[in-house]
Order: sequence, then structure tokens, then C-alpha cells
Amino acid sequence: MAESTGSGEVLPTQETYHPNIESYRQVYTESVETPEKFWEKHAQVLDWHRKWDKVLDESNPPFYRWFVGGKLNVSFNALDRHVQGNRRNKAAYIWVAENGDEKIVTYDGLYQRVNSFAKSLMDLGIKKGDRIIIYLPMILEAPVAMLAAARIGAVFSFVFAGFGAGALAERINDSKAKLVITADGAFRGGKIVKLKDIVDEALVQSSTVETVVVVERTKHDVQMQEGRDIWWHDIVGSRITYVEPEWMDATDPLYILYTSGTTGKPKGAVHGNGGYSVWIANTLKWAFNPGENDRWWCAADIGWVTGHSYIVFAPLFLGLTSIMFEGAITYPAPDRMWEIIERYRVNLLYTSPTAIRTLMRYGEKYPEKHDLSSLRVLGTVGEPINPAAWKWYYEHIGKSNSPIIDTYWQTETGGFMIAPPLALGLPPLKPGSGTFPMPGVVPVILDEKGKEIPAGEKGYIAYKRPWPGMFMTLNNDPERFKSTYFTKYPGMYYCGDYAIKDKDGYYWLLGRADEVLNVSGHRLGTIEVEDALISSPEVAESAVFGRPDPVKGEVIVAFVVVKEEHEGNGEVVNSIRKRIRTELGPIYVPEEIHIVKSLPKTRSGKIMRRVVKAVALNQLPGDISTLENSASVDEVKSAIEAFRKETS
Ligand code: WTA
Repeated sequence: MAESTGSGEVLPTQETYHPNIESYRQVYTESVETPEKFWEKHAQVLDWHRKWDKVLDESNPPFYRWFVGGKLNVSFNALDRHVQGNRRNKAAYIWVAENGDEKIVTYDGLYQRVNSFAKSLMDLGIKKGDRIIIYLPMILEAPVAMLAAARIGAVFSFVFAGFGAGALAERINDSKAKLVITADGAFRGGKIVKLKDIVDEALVQSSTVETVVVVERTKHDVQMQEGRDIWWHDIVGSRITYVEPEWMDATDPLYILYTSGTTGKPKGAVHGNGGYSVWIANTLKWAFNPGENDRWWCAADIGWVTGHSYIVFAPLFLGLTSIMFEGAITYPAPDRMWEIIERYRVNLLYTSPTAIRTLMRYGEKYPEKHDLSSLRVLGTVGEPINPAAWKWYYEHIGKSNSPIIDTYWQTETGGFMIAPPLALGLPPLKPGSGTFPMPGVVPVILDEKGKEIPAGEKGYIAYKRPWPGMFMTLNNDPERFKSTYFTKYPGMYYCGDYAIKDKDGYYWLLGRADEVLNVSGHRLGTIEVEDALISSPEVAESAVFGRPDPVKGEVIVAFVVVKEEHEGNGEVVNSIRKRIRTELGPIYVPEEIHIVKSLPKTRSGKIMRRVVKAVALNQLPGDISTLENSASVDEVKSAIEAFRKETS
């Protein structure tokens, strides 16, 4: 039985997936053989104000343009059409605070709030095309701000509230933001993170911001700068307001999300309004097959792409009810996640392998305390999932009854690229494999030279065809967009990951092939950490790499050479830690910091990070013919041996 929604699409009321892979194959074949026809049909998942003239414009690769000429508004699709239809009183979010407080906001409630804040933004002089920064914790004002920006055509860049002042300033400056939306503070693990103070510090380093809107959350004392800072509650009235949605071109930018790469500066991936929205709404349906009455919990933070696409936009496009959780999964106890699932009868859970491995360490007794029988589908994202964690999740959380949807994708791809297609025809799952590509995705596994690699062998994954959710460019840097992603294999998108395609056609994603780190599913750049290290007054040189870790996937290890005047200073390591925490944020703080007198270098003076890593991890260092100072290798070795002795 399907319920009519009056607008948008009708979702099934119960699980209706086909255990028949053939039906998936048919859809997939159609998507690659007649892509225009295929996307013509699947773009109907949204309401368009004006239909596009052309599904895909490939005239200027790699700047592919989808649904050219089409006009739509993202907030209209997320809200208005549901409010006008049958979802007016349906819960959009069940928000659960760290302290257990709860708020339920309906589609109509969210619509009212978004309109009201959109009006406030306009009153503050924000117009279509202006850039704004959102630096908020997991509170309802976060989706409200994103949707309000989208409603008036302002381009937002959400900065994860765990980032420090340096990282925030960099993003403000690169995006040339006029306005910042933040909160007095965030609750994290029972403590307060003073977000407004971090914004104040960041703004010392930037000149474009005219206004700071502050949400009252933690209620501690904050400094409000006259003429610049205003409280959210002072500008958002209780009066009902309607703001006509700005009808955006499908190819107008929706947001910029900064992500780490192999060189210093984070890259501002720009996503558009049309193709991106079509992509995330369809991929959520195909992979998870959510039903009209389901409760969906994507347990990521809104500050990362997972939260953008699958807490905010796609679930609202589909008219789903989402859980939004402010706290940490182990606070106040390791059964927090299971308690929420039981309390709110969550049906679809989407989290990270690190979360699973963390909770798995506490044992089965925690999930066993709770009734998890509402769960029907389990998902993971962000990093490879090892078979042991997969099995634990499957057996102890899903009670061997819920498929595991391992979704592989990136900030740049907008939405899932490889994931089990539950709604289309679920293949038998293999623990650790994301199975098959989503419709429209044409992956290929290549060697260094671009030759296709036989089944079962590891290579680089690339994509032969553009897909609607693909990012449109890098902010301020179209050249870097081309050179980073489209040069290694001309005509294809290169994403920086290793993968294997097995003899049955299943894809196994093996993690980064470059020097990007993946710590607890968070994508961090080695170079960003090195840059922060050498900007510390004590540090002369540094080499940073990831060490495999059974829970977090990887942890950061740093080797540093301190400046002569600081040698023997016992406080150096603490001071470096503190600096990285405030500059970049706590997730960037290295697990280990080793002080050495010198680092392995080439004759031209380049630090050989690869050699440091190999020696520290007790692996073969590979070609060291260009190594200039071999004594440094012994230094690294003895530093690591001393450390192991100390910590064992
Ligand atoms: C990794 C997160 C294996 C990968 C959505 C990718 C994965 C990077 C998976 C992107 C997965 C993400 N299996 N590896 N299911 N999902 N990755 O941009 O290395 O924060 O390139 O996007 O995470 O991280 P990003």
C-alpha cells in the first residue's frame, strides 16, 4: 500500500525491495545506455519551476553541466511541496540533545522557521550569490540556516564546528563570506566548546565578514561586538513570514564544502542546485529504500558532506522523518546509540565503521540491554569497513536480519557512488564490499598508466562518465579542479582511492592512494597538519603520516625537529598539541609526536615522509637512493623504539 503525498514522490509504506539482482542490472544498463532518457525520468523526484532544455551539456569538459536551463529551489523541494501536500504535520526532525532533551519539528514548523530566517538574512542585506559561513553544532538552526540560504539563493559554506580558528579563517577568506552564523557554544561530551570565541579569533584574520549571527545554545557569557554581532532570537520574529523562493538555475551553486587534499590549502568543492539534488534524492532511495513511515537516522555531523546530503537535503526531499542527534555516541554511556534507537524506534541507521568499532569494544552487553527490533536497514560510510566490524554490526545490531549498506563516496561526488542497491535488487552481500555502482556510475580500475587492471587486482578507481551529483568546480580554482581530478586519467574523474573489482564484479574500496588521512572516517590532509606544525614557534621541520589503528582506521603520527633554542624544552610537545587544537581543531591533534634531531631528506632538501613512515611502521622503506642523510633514519628508528618501550 502506498500513501499519496500530494506532492513529490509516493514512498512505499513497507519494505518492498527485490532480492533479485537482475532488476538492478536492468536499471543500471538503462542508466548507462540511455543516460539522458534515464535522468529525464529520475529528475522527476524533484519539483521543477522550469524544465531543463538539456539533460547534460558536455561541451566543456570537465565542467559538465546537468539539467541546463532548468530552474528549481532546493528549499521549495525540501519543504513547500510537503507542506502543500500531505506531509504538513509530519515530523521532519526528531532532534535529540546531548542532555536527552528532545524537540520534534514538523515539515510545517521547519517551513515556518526557514521562511522566517530567510527573511532575516534578506533584512541583513544577503542576496542571491552572496556567500555565508555556517559554523554551528548539531542543532535545528543548522538545517534552518542551510535551507534559508538555499531559499534566497545565497551560497553557504558549512564549517564543521570541531574545526579551530585557523581552519575557519581560511574558509571564510577563500569563500569571501559576508556573514557568519554561529552559536555561543556547543555541548560536547558534557563540556562546552566556545564557538563564538573561535569565530572572534578567526575574524581577526579576515576582512570580508560584516555580520555575525549568534544562536543561543550553551548560554555562557559571550562578547558581542557592537555593530557586527547579533543574536539569532533578536532577528527571527514570531510573525509568520513567507519568502518567495528564488528560482535558481540548476547549475547555480548551492554550497561550497571544503575538503582535504594532498596539497596545503583545503579545496572548496562547489555543488550545484539541480544535478546534486537529483543525485542525492535518488541515491538515498536506491540504496536504503526508505518508507513513508520510517525513521531515518544518519548519525554523522552536518558539517561533513554526509550530513549535508543525507541529514539535510535528501531526506527532506523525500519527505522522511529523521533523527538528528547533538551528542557523542559514548556519552554518557556506551549504549547511547542503542538507547536512541529503542526510544525512537529507528528503522534505518547510517553510521561510520569507526563508530561501530568503538561500540563493539564495549561488548554485546550494551546493545543487548535494548530492543533494537525496529531496525530494518543498516548503513556505513566514510572508510573501509573491516569484515569483523561488519559481522558484529550485522549480527548484534541487525540480528542477522538487516542488510548492511556500505556506501562509498566522497565530498566531491555529492552522494553514494558504490553501494548495495536495496531498492533496485539487492545482491548477496560480501562483508567489506560496497557491491555495485549506483545507476549512472561507471567505475574502472586502472594501473598507474591508465590501463585497465584484471579482476582481483588492486588499482586506482576512476570514473568514465559524469554523473549528476558531481561537484561543478573548486571555488576560485577551476585550474586545480582540472589538474587534481581530471589529468591523471584524461577524460575521467580520478578520486584518489585504491580499489579492487573481484571476479563477481563486486567493488572493494581500500582507502586513499594519496597522502590524505582518514581518521575516524574524517578526511584530513597530512600537509595541513605539517603546515600547522611548522607554523608553531618551536618547530623547524616536520613529517606527518597515518598509522593504521584498529578502531579509528588511522591515527596521526608526527615527527618534528624543534628549533635549536627549544631543544630540551619539556613543554614543547604540549605546546604543539595545543597549537594544532586551536589552529585546526581537536581531530587534527597527532596521537604521537616524536622529536628527532633530523628527518630523512632528498639531496634537494625535500623531506621523505614515505621513508619516515616506513621506518616508524617497521616496513621496508622502498627506494632510498636519493636519501641524503642516512643517520636520520636511525634517529627515527630509535625515537620510535624508545616510544614503544615507554608505552608497552
Ligand atoms: C573514504 C565521505 C571505503 C575514501 C563520504 C574516500 C570510503 C573518502 C568509504 C572520502 C567506504 C568513504 N569504503 N572508503 N564506504 N566511504 N571512504 O570526502 O577514501 O569526507 O575518498 O566523504 O573517504 O571522504 P569524504
